Amino acid sequence: MNRDKPPLLIIEDDPGLQKLLRWSFEAYEVLVAGDRESALALIRRHEPAVVTMDLGLPPDPDGASEGLATLQQIRALAPDTKVIVLTGNQDHANAVKVIGMGAYDFHQKPFDPEMLGLVVERAFFLHALQQENRRMQQVQMDSPLSGIISRDPGMLKICRNVERVASSDATVMLLGESGTGKEVLTKALHQLSPRHGERFMAINCAAIPESLLESELFGYEKGAFTGAAKQTLGKIECANGGTFFLDEVGDLPMALQAKILRFLQERVIERIGGREEIPVDVRIVCATHQNLKEMIAAGSFREDLYYRLSEIVVTIPPLRERVGDAALLAHHFRNKFSVQEGRSSLNFSQEALATIESYSWPGNVREMENCIKRAVIMADGSQISVEDLGLQALPMADEPLNLRQVREEAEYKAFVKVLARADGNITKSADLLGVSRPALYDLMKRHGIK
Ligand SMILES: Nc1ncnc2c1ncn2[C@@H]1O[C@H](COP(=O)(O)OP(=O)(O)OP(=O)(O)O)[C@@H](O)[C@H]1O
Ligand SMILES: [Mg+2]
Repeated sequence: MNRDKPPLLIIEDDPGLQKLLRWSFEAYEVLVAGDRESALALIRRHEPAVVTMDLGLPPDPDGASEGLATLQQIRALAPDTKVIVLTGNQDHANAVKVIGMGAYDFHQKPFDPEMLGLVVERAFFLHALQQENRRMQQVQMDSPLSGIISRDPGMLKICRNVERVASSDATVMLLGESGTGKEVLTKALHQLSPRHGERFMAINCAAIPESLLESELFGYEKGAFTGAAKQTLGKIECANGGTFFLDEVGDLPMALQAKILRFLQERVIERIGGREEIPVDVRIVCATHQNLKEMIAAGSFREDLYYRLSEIVVTIPPLRERVGDAALLAHHFRNKFSVQEGRSSLNFSQEALATIESYSWPGNVREMENCIKRAVIMADGSQISVEDLGLQALPMADEPLNLRQVREEAEYKAFVKVLARADGNITKSADLLGVSRPALYDLMKRHGIK
């Protein structure tokens, strides 16, 4: 078969017309079928984008019953395929009927090859456009946000949720272990929001001494305290119009919790030493790796503040719970640091990859980033070995599941793992899994992976 030309299926029982049509469509790989059965077989095999068909097919060459039945089956088998039906000259009723059944167009016989050629060309064009559109939608569905590398369904879902809430002004709370990407997600949220043209300001409540935190947040007037030489704006005020990120909110001292709560209720701030109430319009995002519910129970975090901050809660899974992401991120960071360190074509040894996959990554993506950076620097020759990683592999606990779940999970995990390990290469993935490429595509389809 000619691979450069797109296949066009012609369903026509008259040998003379078959010849004529073949001759008119030199630009395509013309496939010809004389009856329903062979037409359906060719559609299954070649998946043509466009089909032209005669309504009068054997065993009913003078009627339309066989043609209509064929059309119905094509529609069910290949709903994206564009079917152009050739109808008799005065056959208005059937023309209407075939369009109602989902045919792309009809054309009257005896046909004008030039006209029919144009209709076919337009059908190919529309089909290509629809496929492209679908592909782009799919890519959007499958791709994480800017700065985020992941193929884990849980993480991708979080990315979709972040996209969804970005347009609102709702206060978002990101929960997750250290290094899971709370800050990258916050930045992505800001970038996707209508506030992206304004400033993104962040403050880390754990990194700033309590005595300075208040002035960092709210600013101060000249002479408010010793050393206050000039009026200084706080970070909340600086973020006006944009997004304010309150990082490690669990470390906010009680006295400031009350002040932040007041800001959230009134949306005004007062600079230290100032008397004026200044309205500030910011979108608040906060994050913590601490358990705020426990802190509330222990009396170290205000419950009312918690509810103000947690209009939308996003819980980010730790790296060890993301399927396939460890190897995926390892490849990503290897590429990044190889370039940075001027070390080309470094590869992981099989044992190194296995260790990366089984390690529990308590420090999550940040730990991974540091680990691979170190390994790239340490590696001798062209391979990153287990020793270069400097990890102490800790066995992970198994979760109990029923047998069907176990099978499905195992299949899915093996697949995503292999895909990550092969860096997205399908042929290599199929080899590693010991299946054929078509079987692999089946697997991908079954698990909804693109
Ligand atoms: N999914 C990801 N893909 C690529 N890089 C990531 C991903 N998640 C995190 N990172 C990188 O890992 C590092 C840690 O991420 P980030 O600072 O957002 O984590 P965090 O949850 O805020 O951590 P902490 O609680 O320690 O503040 C950053 O360098 C970030 O760019
Ligand atoms: Mg952080």
